[in-house]
Formats: sequence, structure tokens, C-alpha cells
Amino acid sequence: MAEHWIENHKRDSWRRQAKASGYRARSAFKLKQIQDRFGLIRQGDTVLDVGCHPGGWAQVAVELVGAEGHVVGVDLEPCQAVEGAVLLTGDITEPVTQERILAELGGARLNVIVSDISPDITGKWDMDQSVAMTLVADVFDFSLPLLRKGGAFTTKLFQGVGVEQLIDAVKPHFSTVRRFSPDASRNSSSEVYLICRNHTPWKGPNRSVRLRYDEAMDELVGGHELEEDVAIQSSTFSVRRKKTSSE
Ligand SMILES: C[S@@+](CC[C@H](N)C(=O)[O-])C[C@H]1O[C@@H](n2cnc3c(N)ncnc32)[C@H](O)[C@@H]1O
Repeated sequence: MAEHWIENHKRDSWRRQAKASGYRARSAFKLKQIQDRFGLIRQGDTVLDVGCHPGGWAQVAVELVGAEGHVVGVDLEPCQAVEGAVLLTGDITEPVTQERILAELGGARLNVIVSDISPDITGKWDMDQSVAMTLVADVFDFSLPLLRKGGAFTTKLFQGVGVEQLIDAVKPHFSTVRRFSPDASRNSSSEVYLICRNHTPWKGPNRSVRLRYDEAMDELVGGHELEEDVAIQSSTFSVRRKKTSSE
């Protein structure tokens, strides 16, 4: 009970601070704390903000990139405008949304990708975790080819099954990959941020992150064995047509 009270109190305190500072969401402090620690975003950068609604991270990103920078955000939910950012509405996994992001970038490469994306929670933890992890893998697949050499990528994850497998799949694309829990999210949930720095496009495998992640998960849960079993069983199965009276 006491722990629950402390958690709520901390959350309210970040919410009050966000309001007092003019940020739309307490999540703004998470990006600020990531930035204080790792300095991912610089003046003049081009930044993609994935899952940007209601716009807290976009506000912080605009401050950091300054007048010469460029911030493009995307979310399923329409966002109120943030001065200095272009915020698109759409599903980042859909080709039509991806085309709009590419059009907005007009051929410019990204310096930084920040993703706070989280799908709707159903309460079925295994399923929620699996959907959240594959969504993150899909975000990597779309946006990694747009990231400059030396660029950075941070994304929210929920601690649980599949985190190690996702980290293994993205590690070859960066010099360093580590987990970080900003104070603003501590105690509030199992969320953690993956901080990927110094993109090394020449080192990463050409195969998709999602495919390599799915393969690692199949191995973890014995998916290959299951598929082989199914194939063997189906080879002994045959359908006999019943004779009709006219034959
Ligand atoms: C925690 S909120 C982001 C908060 C935001 N960083 C801020 O500071 O205001 C997570 C967002 O991810 C979005 N989201 C989930 N799935 C998505 C998808 N497939 N494409 C785009 N956005 C998605 C949700 O609509 C939700 O608004």
C-alpha cells in the first residue's frame, strides 16, 4: 500500500512539473533525462519521434535541435501542433504512413530516432509483451535504413520475455547498446529505454531485425521443433473421397 502511494505521488509530482514547465506530458522528463545522460540529440539534427502523441517528446526534441533542426513525429492519434515539428497521424508499420514520413524527410537522413511507442494494453501480459516487442522490431526495420552513420536510436521496451533476443538482434547495428531507466519512469512500470549509439551500417546484417528477432523467439520457445512435428504428421494424412451412388 505504502509503495503504491509513493509511486502515485512520484507520478503526480512529474505531472505537476510537466504542467509548470509547459510540457504536455510527464514523459517529456524521460527524454530530458535520457538526453542529460547520453546527449543523443544535437543542434541542427533531424529527429524522428515515433509514437509522439500528445507531443511531450516532440517539444523537448524541438528545443534540442533548435531553429536549424528538423523534427518529424508520427502517432496513431492526431497531435495538437508543436511549433517547429511536423507531426503526422498514422500507423508507422503501414506503408502509406512510411511514405509520408519519407516525403516529409525529402531524402534527408536521420541523426536520431526516439521511440516511446507502446501499443494498447489488453491485460493479457504474454500477448501484450509479444505485440510490444514485435512493434519495436518493426520500427527498427523501417527506420534503421534512414539513420546516418554514427546516429542514435532510443526506444521504450517493457522488461520481460524477448528483451534479450531483441537486444541481440539490434546490437550488430551499433557500437553500444544499453538499458537505461530515467528517474521519471522508475517505479511506474516495467518500462526501460534501450539506448543505441553510434550506428554502424557497414557492420549490421542485411536481414531484417524482425526476422532475426522472430527466429530467436522460435528457438526460445521451440517453434522450429513444433513446425517439424506438424510437417511429419501431415505427411501421413490423406483424404479419401466417399463413393457416390452414381459411381
Ligand atoms: C507513451 S505514448 C507516447 C508519449 C509521447 N512520447 C509524449 O511524450 O507525448 C505512446 C504512443 O505510441 C502510439 N502508438 C502505438 N502504436 C503505434 C503505431 N503502430 N504507430 C504509431 N504510433 C503508435 C500510441 O498511440 C501512443 O500515443
